[in-house]
Amino acid sequence: MILDRVKPLSAILEAVEKKGLPRTLGGFQLMLFGIGCVIGTGIFVLTAAGAQKAGPGLMLAFAIAGAVCIVAALCYSEVASMIPVAGSAYTYSYASMGEFLAWTVGWALIMEYAIAASAVSVGWSGYFSGTILHEFLGITLPPWLSAGPLALGGAEGGFINLPALVIALLVTWLLVIGTRESAVFNTILVIIKVTALTAFVVLTLPQVETAKFNPFLPAGVFGGFGSGVGAVGAAATIFFAYVGFDAVSTAAEETKNPQRNVPIGLVGSLLFCTVFYILVAAGAIGTIGGQPIMGPDGIPFPAGSEELARQCALPQYAGALVCSDEALAHVLRQVGFSTVGNMLGIAAFLALPSVILVLLFGQTRIFFVMSRDGLLPEGLSKVHPKWGTPYIVTIITGSLVALAAAFFPVGQLADISNAGTLYAFGMVALAAMVLRRREPDVQRAFRVPGLVIVGPLTIAGCLFLFLNLPIEAMLMLPVWSLVGAVIYFGYSRSRSHMAAGVVEVHEPEITELEPDIPGIADRGRD
Ligand code: ALA
Repeated sequence: MILDRVKPLSAILEAVEKKGLPRTLGGFQLMLFGIGCVIGTGIFVLTAAGAQKAGPGLMLAFAIAGAVCIVAALCYSEVASMIPVAGSAYTYSYASMGEFLAWTVGWALIMEYAIAASAVSVGWSGYFSGTILHEFLGITLPPWLSAGPLALGGAEGGFINLPALVIALLVTWLLVIGTRESAVFNTILVIIKVTALTAFVVLTLPQVETAKFNPFLPAGVFGGFGSGVGAVGAAATIFFAYVGFDAVSTAAEETKNPQRNVPIGLVGSLLFCTVFYILVAAGAIGTIGGQPIMGPDGIPFPAGSEELARQCALPQYAGALVCSDEALAHVLRQVGFSTVGNMLGIAAFLALPSVILVLLFGQTRIFFVMSRDGLLPEGLSKVHPKWGTPYIVTIITGSLVALAAAFFPVGQLADISNAGTLYAFGMVALAAMVLRRREPDVQRAFRVPGLVIVGPLTIAGCLFLFLNLPIEAMLMLPVWSLVGAVIYFGYSRSRSHMAAGVVEVHEPEITELEPDIPGIADRGRD
């Protein structure tokens, strides 16, 4: 019952064959798309939470998380180049492991995309309040309007994160009216982000003092499963800084010489980000220091917690990296580059909404495909007569994303999102291995070299990071899955189109949903 209802691959591939897309993308273009989706709140904001978990060991954390993402990206690329249709990880699982596991993946992807959109909204809010309102307009938002109340263990001094709520609703509205991100727009934002981070690295690295890296691992490498601290605990959190490349993996089908260019594009963009992130972490910690604020037991206070907020209110921590809501701009201001710091703040202010857009878009597309498979109410996939967008599902998703953004701190949201993402990534690696065995002859534009090693390595890496998330975030996955299982067995299983013998492959006719960026959340391919 658990492994039944495998969607026949032949039916999926038949539908895809009809729509063969020209291979136009090179490795560099693919890399630009990857970087556009990936660089966001993770590096601009979570650097502070990462330092609170690991101190200078954050640099090691970026390397660990980057390595897991690189092997996962390889697996994603193989399956995506084989099954280039809407629904990404959910569809891959449907074709390899059957409906129930596909449902669990689709359900986990809600955690990935929707909660990540909330996290990026909160990250944006920090830069909006700090740079735009405070630095430029001289307005200081009271804490009750600039932070949510639901930090670990109690209030963070906040009631509602109003800017985060507003930006999430604004992006939702843009999606409802059919806004798409063009390739040119993406390139401009990539240039803005990369320029901001380059300026950061160039200005901070010469000022680095080696003493600031000592102790390098104040919370150790491994803080203990579920503790969320230590270099590996930080890796599990800043894994978020790499999320998003999966949205581009489906571009494999449109890539020239994919066997060569897909690894260059995906692995290249992840490697680029990894190196960049490590340099940024070095620049931030090496200049103003990044030691965690320790609790009485010698363990760092949890990032985003009430206790940490209380410590951060003390004068001696006024300038601490781990207390900042706009980490990178804060560092630049502290080391005497206020203007550049403000420019970096503007870069984040401009660029982060596009990351929210990509994530929310990905979420609505997953819902859309699940609803067209009969697993969610069909009304959800209703397309707006004028705008041509699945407005109902977009409005529902966007409102929930906005509410989560309004009430939760960024680090906690990122951790919860990571829990779902790690599950989905692990399942894609499993799908790649199952499909190799079950469908060895189906053509793959890209084959992972050494999948017998890379596949299990991806699964082990995802599991390892998952177990190093804070226990609350880790528990969200089984709780969320349980809710999903109740809905599946109570509603979806009997309404599934597969159960009725209908094998559908939905390549949505909602072309308005289709951004110019190939592969972004499985755009329509009509
Ligand atoms: N990787 C994306 C970010 O850091 C989700 O914002």
